[in-house]
Amino acid sequence: MSQRKQLKLGVIIHGVGGLISGWRHPDVPADASISLEFYKNHAQLAEAGKFDLAFIADGLHINEKSIPHFLNRFEPLTILSALAAVTSRIGLVGTLSTSYSEPFTVARQFASLDAISDGRAGWNVVTSPLEASARNFNKGSHPTHGDRYKIATEHLEVVRGLWDSWEDDAFVRDKENDRFFDSSKMHPLNHKGNYFSVEGPLNVARSRQGQPVIFQAGASESGKELAVASADAIFTSHTILEDAKAFYKEIKERAVEQGRSEDDIVIMPGIGPIIGDTEEEAEQLYQELASLVSIDRALEFLGRFFDHHDFSQYPLDEPFPDLGDLGKNTFRSDTDKIKQKAREHGLTLRQVALQTTTPRSSFTGTPEKVADLIQKWHEEKGSDGFIVHAATPVQLRRFVEKVVPILQERGIFRTEYEADTLRGNLGLPIPANRHTLQRV
Ligand SMILES: Cc1cc2nc3c(=O)[nH]c(=O)nc-3n(C[C@H](O)[C@H](O)[C@H](O)COP(=O)(O)O)c2cc1C
Repeated sequence: MSQRKQLKLGVIIHGVGGLISGWRHPDVPADASISLEFYKNHAQLAEAGKFDLAFIADGLHINEKSIPHFLNRFEPLTILSALAAVTSRIGLVGTLSTSYSEPFTVARQFASLDAISDGRAGWNVVTSPLEASARNFNKGSHPTHGDRYKIATEHLEVVRGLWDSWEDDAFVRDKENDRFFDSSKMHPLNHKGNYFSVEGPLNVARSRQGQPVIFQAGASESGKELAVASADAIFTSHTILEDAKAFYKEIKERAVEQGRSEDDIVIMPGIGPIIGDTEEEAEQLYQELASLVSIDRALEFLGRFFDHHDFSQYPLDEPFPDLGDLGKNTFRSDTDKIKQKAREHGLTLRQVALQTTTPRSSFTGTPEKVADLIQKWHEEKGSDGFIVHAATPVQLRRFVEKVVPILQERGIFRTEYEADTLRGNLGLPIPANRHTLQRV
């Protein structure tokens, strides 16, 4: 029998969590977002569960309405470098914005992480949805959605070019003959584009996986274009299987149209499983989390998607207000979904706020039920894998100890790592150095 297609798994390590009031749960250490011990334990637990990768999200502007995790947390590359030293197989993917960074610095940071981790680095390319980010970076205004993606496209092109500055055998380190490197294998970039001018070469060589894995997390049309052209993996926020299947089909078809293979892009929706020994226990855990949120906090959380729009100005128990284009320049795909769901289900503002704050994951139930759903999404081509976002540390442990063994028994998840690079485990090809390619 041929081997069944293998599922990919990531864990998002997110300190006190992505829920506005999740930090109040008794199982969550209140300082988790700034605790090396917490991050280390999670990365090592996920590695024991043979996860492909640990994922760190990020943002560039906070105010008093931001969720607690955002107020005081690690910079992604810094924490991932620390995690590289205490893990050996799990991939390390960090978020960094193309709208507020210089490609040379980004290329250098990720190439360094890739070297430190010996080929396990990944970059989640984001364009920064929050308008106020501009005020932290000496910029007059936040680029529009369309411009952000144009900048991202060129930024990524420059970073990738810099990553190929050195051919793989460029450093000969011949002490006898006083020859450290072969100058014919060092390549400046000499990029002059609309947004960036970068000479190169980069001062870090390629790792064993060639280049860090490129993740992309925007799902608007421009986001999809970028992903189809350049991403190795997509982190999505689909919660409904039919939507996920349509997205999966579209992305794979468009990748093939561009001469790529279907397997060159790994699609991974985020899931927040809530696992109990019984259905009742899981439901009770969900209610515990939901009950921590007040309506005021829920309105603030909802506002964040719409660039901190003040929702307290509207009546709570009347239909969700008509917001026009508000939200189009921030988290466009999320805000479009929120508006559409409110319209289709005739929801009030209170309902929208509470549901957005503590969405009830369909991956709630016993380990078998969660494993069944994961298998269904995977087999019906809704995803190639998942990025698990556990609401509490106990939930990640349950996932690793109870759900993973079921997936392994069913032959859809590894019992041992196949490779020791992130590309290797994700089944992605190692990109050849463009200059070496030109020689052959
Ligand atoms: C699942 C998911 C995770 C994301 N994670 C981040 C993040 O960590 N940091 C960030 O600045 N933006 C993040 N984004 C925002 C996107 O990068 C993008 O800026 C936003 O979704 C707007 O682009 P879009 O309209 O193409 O979706 C994420 C988006 C999605 C869907």
